[in-house]
Amino acid sequence: MKYKQAFAEILFEALDHEIPVKDLEVLIEKPKNQQHGDLAFPCFTLAKVKRKSPALIAHELSTKIQSATIEKVQVVGAYINIFLNKKLVSEDTVAEIIKQQENYGALDIGKNRPVTIDLSSPNIAKPFSMGHLRSTVIGNSLAFIVEKCGYKSIRINHIGDWGTQFGKLITAYKIWGEAEKVKLNPIKELLTLYVKFHDEAESNPSLVEQGRNWFKKLEDGDEEATSLWQWFRDESLKEFSRIYQLMNVQFDSFAGEAFYNDKMDRVVKLLEEKQLLIESDQAQVVELIDKELPPCLIKKSDGATLYATRDLAAALYRKENYDFDLSLYVVGNEQSLHFKQLMAVLEKMGYAWANNMVHIPFGMMLKDGKKMSTRKGKGRLIRGSTK
Ligand code: ARG
Repeated sequence: MKYKQAFAEILFEALDHEIPVKDLEVLIEKPKNQQHGDLAFPCFTLAKVKRKSPALIAHELSTKIQSATIEKVQVVGAYINIFLNKKLVSEDTVAEIIKQQENYGALDIGKNRPVTIDLSSPNIAKPFSMGHLRSTVIGNSLAFIVEKCGYKSIRINHIGDWGTQFGKLITAYKIWGEAEKVKLNPIKELLTLYVKFHDEAESNPSLVEQGRNWFKKLEDGDEEATSLWQWFRDESLKEFSRIYQLMNVQFDSFAGEAFYNDKMDRVVKLLEEKQLLIESDQAQVVELIDKELPPCLIKKSDGATLYATRDLAAALYRKENYDFDLSLYVVGNEQSLHFKQLMAVLEKMGYAWANNMVHIPFGMMLKDGKKMSTRKGKGRLIRGSTK
């Protein structure tokens, strides 16, 4: 920008003030090929004013260009290409960086408007996975970029602290768990219990039923279920905060999935009012055939809500509380369909701001060419459709 303006001023002098600097500046281009110089001035527009061939003007004008910041002037057809003096430009840039420090390169396009960034978002009672690590670093970097562009960033850690898996975990803890062991090594022990549940459930399907019941109790606020859940959550967050400290990442909110427990009825009601909710196999869904997507499951046959329901509530909450200009979700690409459905449902509900939501996907880390799954104890949760 700065050098474009300087070049325009030189041209202004060379043209005897015939054409205003601003008009010249807009004509200056940055050559795609670096070999053609740092900046280029095409003479076609001047040709109309001066009634001479553009190549001739380029040639005549080039002889009048002289400046310490310009190392070389080259005429190629109708173009005047200039090469900046690298030493001067580097010195100048370094001096500017030293002067402006962390403000160097800052823009004001955001006008302090809010941008929410959903990042990290690990699941409690599970180890922090590679995917969560990637979401944390990519999301945090995006937050810095957003801030640099003059927006206000809001880092939200949408902790996975709700869902049917907590019913399973409580069931496993009630049958095989020992408080002492959990206290000693919470995440490892809870994961062991979770894996055991899945191993045992293969031959004992009644466990799945018990898990479902415990989750229902949790949703209904049962005291025992709630206090176990709270304990698992607290221990997990302690472990996660150790990782965040190492990475020097801070969050503005830890409102996770459980936070939306009392905010989902409203979503369901709104969907009903807008006549978007239909019954399918005793479950409540929003059809998205017109958007060429599979239906979005809102409520299961037993009335339990789902991951998508909580994300709908979260999106509404974020819009109403933060009034975001942009809402980013930094989540692995295995959840692309989920985010497409989420945005499609919000759009159907009539919220134009759904267009300002962006899923930022990233690839999955494989181990020996395969997915890692926590259920089998390999370290990564594969999200099932029931969560
Ligand atoms: N806890 C989820 C998982 O580990 C990621 C949540 C991403 N954020 C969201 N708003 N859905 O798969």
